[in-house]
Amino acid sequence: MNKYAIIGGTGLTRLEGLTIRDAMFIDTPYGSPSAEVIRGEYAGRDVLFLARHGQPHRIPPHEVNYRANLWALRQAGATHILAINAVGGISDTFQTGCFSIPDQIIDYTSGRDHTLYEGDLEHVTHVDFSYPYDEILRKRLIAAVAACGYSCNNQGVYGCTQGPRLETVAEVARMERDGCNIVGMTGMPETVLARELGLSYACLALVVNRAAGKSNGATITKAQIDAAVNVGMSKVKIVLARLLGA
Ligand code: HPA
Repeated sequence: MNKYAIIGGTGLTRLEGLTIRDAMFIDTPYGSPSAEVIRGEYAGRDVLFLARHGQPHRIPPHEVNYRANLWALRQAGATHILAINAVGGISDTFQTGCFSIPDQIIDYTSGRDHTLYEGDLEHVTHVDFSYPYDEILRKRLIAAVAACGYSCNNQGVYGCTQGPRLETVAEVARMERDGCNIVGMTGMPETVLARELGLSYACLALVVNRAAGKSNGATITKAQIDAAVNVGMSKVKIVLARLLGA
């Protein structure tokens, strides 16, 4: 039986419409997760929900305990993870307000606890990460977004930066040369930890601003991001209802 867990990012610290049955504080070998794991019912299905940045939103991307979060979700029975991420759009077709369901990721982060394979190991493991996202889950997301009629790039390369600052224009230009279409701060190590734990994982990214240098010399403002997050996250809830209710 598939058990979906939603990891809510910026703008999605709670999921309205989720009938909460239980809120579990799960201690892990890696410390505390960002928040209680919520067990509840959404669109007629039993799901788990975790606020990546805490509830209320207080943990910056570089301080999220990704290992504890993923471990706790698996402990609670999750088999499939739907990760919601706010991102900046690099390529022209990734405009503010549109969705992206990336199929590749490049890790530009540093110093994060990025693996469960460390310490007193019996053998060395190199997990396959050629295709970082689960293709079946990606297809379900693509179908759900399409059914809602929202504009979406069904492929894309997510460049994950360390943050919490936004990027320079030169950094975004380099990422573009590397092939990145979107930039965010929370895709890694979350994506690879899901793989290490054997969880199916896909990302629904919402473009909430044009990346640095991509809007005619304008700077990126919090007000602008907040406005896009507010509009976009209501759409995310509709997409999730469509996917989970199917
Ligand atoms: N850069 C990095 N992370 C982000 C951005 C961005 O422009 N927008 C939302 N998250």
